[in-house]
Amino acid sequence: MAQARIGLIGLGVMGANLSLNIAEKGFPIAVYNRTGSVTDDYVASAGDLAQQLFPAKTLEDLVASLSTPRAIIIMVQAGAAVDSVIDSLTPLLDKGDMIIDAGNANFHDTRRREAELSKLGLNFIGMGVSGGEEGARHGPSIMVGGDKKSFEVIRDILEAISAKHHGTPCADHFGPDGAGHFVKTVHNGIEYADMQMIAEVYGVLRDGAGRSAADIGKLFETWDKGQLQSYLVEISGKVLQTIDEKSGQPIVDIIVDKAGQKGTGRWTAIEALSLGQSPSTIEAAVAARSWSSVKDTRIAGEALFAELEPEKGAAKISDDDLEKALLAAKIIAYDQGLNLLSAASDEYDWNLDLASCAEVWREGCIIRSTMLDEMASAVREGLPQGNLIFSPRFAQRLVEGSSALRRVVASAALQGLPVPAFAAALAYFDTMRQGRGTTDLVQGQRDFFGAHGFVRIDTGETDQHGPWASDIAHS
Ligand code: 6PG
Repeated sequence: MAQARIGLIGLGVMGANLSLNIAEKGFPIAVYNRTGSVTDDYVASAGDLAQQLFPAKTLEDLVASLSTPRAIIIMVQAGAAVDSVIDSLTPLLDKGDMIIDAGNANFHDTRRREAELSKLGLNFIGMGVSGGEEGARHGPSIMVGGDKKSFEVIRDILEAISAKHHGTPCADHFGPDGAGHFVKTVHNGIEYADMQMIAEVYGVLRDGAGRSAADIGKLFETWDKGQLQSYLVEISGKVLQTIDEKSGQPIVDIIVDKAGQKGTGRWTAIEALSLGQSPSTIEAAVAARSWSSVKDTRIAGEALFAELEPEKGAAKISDDDLEKALLAAKIIAYDQGLNLLSAASDEYDWNLDLASCAEVWREGCIIRSTMLDEMASAVREGLPQGNLIFSPRFAQRLVEGSSALRRVVASAALQGLPVPAFAAALAYFDTMRQGRGTTDLVQGQRDFFGAHGFVRIDTGETDQHGPWASDIAHS
């Protein structure tokens, strides 16, 4: 009986496209979907690629059609559905077989699943896949975590199906257990920040300057040819220039301004906080989506504060400033994302290669951009204090870009236009270039009310206290 090299469970949009990609690259693949008619329809529409497909009507059939050690990709909704598929599959597998979760899993789940399956002698790979439907079909960015030897077994398939950056596959192994899914989570966090910052530019131009959607879209189209070249700027330009067939209006004008979120941006912020990090641009982007969801409240607020006039003295924001501000804020968002990866790597002993993360994101994924190549080079050369914003490649750009960012944030604030991610980026940048901050007072306050102690700047002595303890006692 002919044997398939790999299997895939879950023929939704992502699974169907990923499996066609695998088949197209010459790897026979066994496919299974819980609803059998979905499998039939999928194979019927696969054209010539159907020759590479081994449709299975039961999990038993799927397992039987695979060469050993077996490798089976699960592409179902993240969460309970993944556990349920794993539970059905494990009794059918032999020691040394491998299950690959290619969904957007929470990396804590991936760590748990890896630990549980390794007790059964099975390998579990947590694999982040980015690039949406188109990426899955023609070349996604792939972030793998789990046993390195297992990765080597499927490496040729993953490299063949992935996007390429000048011939280099955008697929890599990042470390054990949840490392790959964590890298994907942070990718999504940066994706949130990038999307939000682009939306803030749109807001400043729409509400501050009264520019049309098409006009703003054309500006993005121009920026996409310069330093800001990126998939997200490109598609933003396209979205803004698209006309809704039904109403004849720009499509953006008929889309309700309530952003959905499946959870990865929120997870990024939650994990960051628990690791003592605060990626303010990502947090701001998550907040902006959450705030967007309370539209009724915002409508009520608009009516309630209608008499509030914009402050006088707001400078006109130039397109050039907006472009530079977006560039600076984007560099800051990546700096924060990379810092988070570094902190998680230390916490979980992943030994993450941050340059490889940036390299894998150069093509195929949603945050792909020309600038990522340079970021990867900056990381490879070594980041001063571990910070991208201090890298010689980017520090100069921030000198110029941060002034533009400051003018944009100041003018937007005076006009009453919310720019939470831009403001968060600026606050972070200003904090990181302030040798003496203001938490000396916070430490004083903590010591005053709780005797928490502080470090003396002059002698370096720790656990010092102010004289206020006796003040309290005598008052
Ligand atoms: C990708 C995307 C993808 C994500 C969607 C929706 O890398 O291809 O990040 O994984 O699921 O973009 O995410 P939200 O619903 O959270 O916006």
